[in-house]
Amino acid sequence: MSIRPLRKAVLPVAGLGTRFLPATKAIPKEMLPVVDKPLIQYAVDEARAAGIEQFCMVTGRGKTALIDHFDIAFELESTLASRHKDDALEMLRSERMEPGSITTVRQQVPLGLGHAIWCARVFIGDDPFAILLPDDLVLSKTPCLQQLADAYRETGGNVVAVENVPREHVSRYGVLKTGAEHGNLVEVLGLVEKPKPEVAPSTLSIIGRYVLLPEVVNYLARMDRGAGGEVQLTDAMAKMVGHAPFHGLKFEGRRFDCGDKAGYLEAQLAFALARPDLGSSVRNFLKAYADA
Ligand code: G1P
Repeated sequence: MSIRPLRKAVLPVAGLGTRFLPATKAIPKEMLPVVDKPLIQYAVDEARAAGIEQFCMVTGRGKTALIDHFDIAFELESTLASRHKDDALEMLRSERMEPGSITTVRQQVPLGLGHAIWCARVFIGDDPFAILLPDDLVLSKTPCLQQLADAYRETGGNVVAVENVPREHVSRYGVLKTGAEHGNLVEVLGLVEKPKPEVAPSTLSIIGRYVLLPEVVNYLARMDRGAGGEVQLTDAMAKMVGHAPFHGLKFEGRRFDCGDKAGYLEAQLAFALARPDLGSSVRNFLKAYADA
């Protein structure tokens, strides 16, 4: 079987970000920074590091800043150039996207993650594709999506990033019914979206990184409603089990849920501590502050 190359990624970014009001009243939640980079840029950088060349952002109203963020800011660049701010200019230029590499579609009504992915069906076409949920930030040696892409090349099938969560938290996630384990790869026998802790088939839960075969779109098109009355990606993925290889990857790294205030603050600290220019001063501050 020839394995089709992974070049596309879908970024669902239509959510309202109500948990971060008032910060997200006039800017999309994906523009919230961790240290000095917005969440959306972490997702795009991670994807590019994994060989992704084409992006589709599934947006909604009030999300124009996300599109502007990846455009060339001509006035800014010319001002930086005239002031000889070469480092800032070089940083902006190094992050510049290839013309035409980002496309957007709008999710007109908030019918769930599965519906958002279905909105990208023309972009997906007949190709395997990655999904990155920008709320989930992963600090790791090898970018999380690269780890998934490697697993996809090994298995030729669907791969989702998973981690064990406390049983009382499984109702926040898509949860695996697990089969055989081979190293970090766990065979998926079934999937349940947001199960009650007492009936969850395991505690191995999906975080916001996926590599999926395009056939998932056919199942999404049925528009079956699941947990919360929404069209759930997890339910469509569950229908692919048995038709194509499907694995959970226990990825290397630490995941932060930036859709949650505590998780977002933890990410700020962890990413700052990992930065050569900030790590020691933040560490010293934390030690002194915690002991005071
Ligand atoms: C979504 C998915 C869920 C997954 C989670 C990861 O849920 O539906 O399966 O485990 O992302 O963050 P949401 O966080 O949108 O409720």
